Amino acid sequence: MPGALQANPSIMKDLVWLFGYGSLIWRPDFPFFETCRAYVDGWQRRFWQGSHDHRGVPADPGRVVTLIEAHGERCFGRAYLIGRGVFEHLDRREINGYERRRIQIHFDDGQAAGVMYVATRDNPAYLGSAPLEEMVAQIRGAAGKSGTNIEYVLKLASALRELGESDDHVFKLEEQVLAG
Ligand code: SIN
Repeated sequence: MPGALQANPSIMKDLVWLFGYGSLIWRPDFPFFETCRAYVDGWQRRFWQGSHDHRGVPADPGRVVTLIEAHGERCFGRAYLIGRGVFEHLDRREINGYERRRIQIHFDDGQAAGVMYVATRDNPAYLGSAPLEEMVAQIRGAAGKSGTNIEYVLKLASALRELGESDDHVFKLEEQVLAG
């Protein structure tokens, strides 16, 4: 667990650990005090959330990641130590179906209580599973205010490699969106 800030309870009371597993890994457009590789247990990353804003439009939604509860699974990502005020920005950024959830975040050398954004099955933009070819076709055709859906897949895959992590679901989609 990084940093000297951890040792100072009066500073830590205004700070929160945020766990990112999707675009928050590779597009942190917010201030943070510390960042490091991290994981959460009991969750798996899936391209099952529709994007009506960043990577698609309502008539032609893209696919972005959410976390699905899965006993025995571990999802790697990146943790950020942020000030509480940053949630004002993050709540707007993640508005299309995501909600904040308290979660135990694990680091290479410790753990801490924190928060992540998760899009649950009951949000209106949720898409759920689909055959690989269908997901690939949807991703290839979608774009939104933040760019193409393909870019989201490729940047996530390369960010995971940079962290030294692999994720079959993400890497398979990466391979297929690049093929042909
Ligand atoms: C996250 O990155 O943690 C949430 C999903 C996203 O914004 O891509």
